[in-house]
Amino acid sequence: MRILVTGGSGYIGSHTVLALLEAGHDVVVIDNLANSNQESLRRVGEIAGRSAEFLQVDLLDETALDNAFSSQNVDAVIHFAGLKAVGESVEKPLYYYHNNVGGTLNLLRCMERHDVRTLVFSSSATVYGASEEVPLVEKLPLDAVNPYGRTKEQIEDILSDVGAADERWNIALLRYFNPVGAHESGRIGEDPTGTPNNLLPFVAQVAVGRREKVMVFGNDYPTPDGTGIRDYIHVVDLAAGHLAALDYVHSHSGVHRWNLGTGKGSSVLEVLAAFSAAAGHEVPYEFGPRRPGDAAVSYADPSAALADLGWSAHKTLQQMCDDHWRWQKENPLGYSS
Ligand code: NAD
Ligand code: UFG
Repeated sequence: MRILVTGGSGYIGSHTVLALLEAGHDVVVIDNLANSNQESLRRVGEIAGRSAEFLQVDLLDETALDNAFSSQNVDAVIHFAGLKAVGESVEKPLYYYHNNVGGTLNLLRCMERHDVRTLVFSSSATVYGASEEVPLVEKLPLDAVNPYGRTKEQIEDILSDVGAADERWNIALLRYFNPVGAHESGRIGEDPTGTPNNLLPFVAQVAVGRREKVMVFGNDYPTPDGTGIRDYIHVVDLAAGHLAALDYVHSHSGVHRWNLGTGKGSSVLEVLAAFSAAAGHEVPYEFGPRRPGDAAVSYADPSAALADLGWSAHKTLQQMCDDHWRWQKENPLGYSS
């Protein structure tokens, strides 16, 4: 198939583009480079031995997007493009709703005009909000607790309405848990701008000496070691989940929802121990207060993805940290190293 990948030069997008190319698909990437570097796709081309086509297009520019659909004869879309920083979304809600929801509306209208109705969308476990009913299952009511999460929830609602109105649409809503790690080559990985919001990239920057120590947000949670528990999933397993979902929706119409997680939770202290083992030295940390809005425990029930897609995550926390570390060590300043 010829797949259009929005946000394809970003972290999860670049790993998925690689998996698509390796599976024999042709790929066209659309990205405005707001939070990524085209170098990721150059390296993807190096690893795969062939390249994705790249178009620098902003989803908010509907004319440019429409031209892209006119010039490319695509069969399906994987839609990663979006802004994802929770704190920034609280400060700039309009920017987030405009970019994420507005960009998706433009994309859907272009898809409809060009008769492309197969879509895989990047949703997030954040749509479950502060639900502490673990493991999290797809049928739980959605209750996002911040503007970023609400953009994902609103897009899920829009896609559900679109799918209900016209059975020609084939839509997968993929709720990712905590994507971490990097391709085992160490050539592509996560390259956050500014201070990382998430645990793994922060730990990696401490381990490589760019930052002094990790602040562990709370050690008084009702968990075995008192620190927060999350379902970390290797980005390469996550990329494989997109191919499985794409295959499924290619032959099943309607709107489908799947958690993509391992089903296993790890605490912050377990992550720090695994990362220290990967780096070969202790990653310094100290305990601080809880971060507002954080759940104590969050992990997926991934059984629906296994039953429907035959997909499950295979890589261990140690592999996630080993691969994340290899990328960080060999590219201490990310793609601008
Ligand atoms: P990323 O920032 O690395 O990639 C997103 C890409 O979208 C970037 O390359 C950015 O330049 C592009 N983009 C943003 N707005 C755009 C626009 N208007 N037009 C064109 N391109 C635009 O993020 P990621 O971690 O790869 O996440 C990919 C998707 O997965 C996002 O939708 C994110 O919300 C979702 N997600 C991520 C996580 C996570 O922890 N990384 C968890 C759950 C869901
Ligand atoms: N944590 C620390 N110190 C840090 C950063 C994080 O102790 O410097 C802790 C958090 O308190 C939490 C765990 O590490 O217990 C993971 O935190 P992340 O910020 O990496 O991930 P979250 O689960 O809080 O949230 C992320 C994204 C959300 C998304 C969610 C599920 O930020 O947008 O994963 O996909 F919804």
